[in-house]
Amino acid sequence: MKKTVLVSGGAGFIGSHVTVELIGAGYDVVVADNFSNCDLTCFEGVKTITGRKDIPFVEMDFCDKTAVRKLFADHAIDAVIHFAAYKAVGESVSEPLMYYQNNLVSFMNVLEVARERGGCNVLFSSSATVYGEPSPDRLPVTEQSERQPATSPYGNTKQISEDVLRDCVKAYPGIKGIALRYFNPIGAHPSALIGELPRGVPNNLVPFITQTASGKRACLSIFGNDYPTPDGTCLRDYIDIVDLAKAHVCAVARMLDGKMKQEYEIFNIGTGRPLSVYELVTAFEKVNKLKLNYKFAPRRAGDVTAIWCDPTLANEELGWKAERTVEETLEAAWKWEKHLIEK
Ligand code: UFG
Repeated sequence: MKKTVLVSGGAGFIGSHVTVELIGAGYDVVVADNFSNCDLTCFEGVKTITGRKDIPFVEMDFCDKTAVRKLFADHAIDAVIHFAAYKAVGESVSEPLMYYQNNLVSFMNVLEVARERGGCNVLFSSSATVYGEPSPDRLPVTEQSERQPATSPYGNTKQISEDVLRDCVKAYPGIKGIALRYFNPIGAHPSALIGELPRGVPNNLVPFITQTASGKRACLSIFGNDYPTPDGTCLRDYIDIVDLAKAHVCAVARMLDGKMKQEYEIFNIGTGRPLSVYELVTAFEKVNKLKLNYKFAPRRAGDVTAIWCDPTLANEELGWKAERTVEETLEAAWKWEKHLIEK
């Protein structure tokens, strides 16, 4: 029988790509979202890509426990992938209560309802932010690398949520958990029907690049060229959004097929390939055959110099590997931006 996966925050950037891959892999998916940071664009795109007009959709807030109870009562859910959360680092510093309230309460509601129902397979969307600033001799980071004290309330919600999941798995029979720690997800679906939809001025590098290329922004600032890296700009592990989505399918299958080795597992999801901001910018120009207006600007507060992962555990245990080249990813990101302009 087909298994059903609930995707909370499923209308957003990562959630929509994951929904496409889950459906492609033969799962039934229930999508739930409150549109706090997206609109219907990506969900409509998901329906077009998959050819499935009948994907169940529930507009709801996961902070509303009654609504979460009803959702689980209305659908036979075998696994939940929890994305529904706020994610702007800077905003979390000025509005910590908003972040703790939304990100922690929503996740605890999912776990509490899972517990009431005798358990569930829970996949939590975590972040490389839990590693903080690793010292250069500790790179690349593995799942065994120490977590560092969070530098923002956003990062802290990721750490606390990981701990909540770990403790619930230990205490409540039937709850199993996997945390996926994403590095820097970028790009868009090659169809250009789904992608990132930042509200206002983008914080993240790739949406800022594509909006500069389209003329929506005058000039990209590269934050810092005096870091102790080969070209002076920061190093990150940029992971293609479709590759990232596929990792979720592997993790869900591992839970549903009873392949987990422990009841709570953690995997780094990245490429293992560090790329500098400057390298990414020049790769974007080259693959899309255009010139980007950019300048070097002072460092951005809070940025770590370099972080990338060792994805061996995910490669071996999940049977997953990042496959797309950065050129393919940046081509898709630009195609998506052009699609948005034409809309
Ligand atoms: N950058 C620029 N100019 C910009 C935007 C970004 O030079 O306009 C640089 C940043 O300084 C950084 C790199 O591009 O060196 C990547 O920046 P992003 O904002 O795209 O990503 P971060 O690595 O800062 O943040 C990501 C996620 C966060 C997560 C964090 C730590 O977006 O959710 O990694 O894991 F918390």
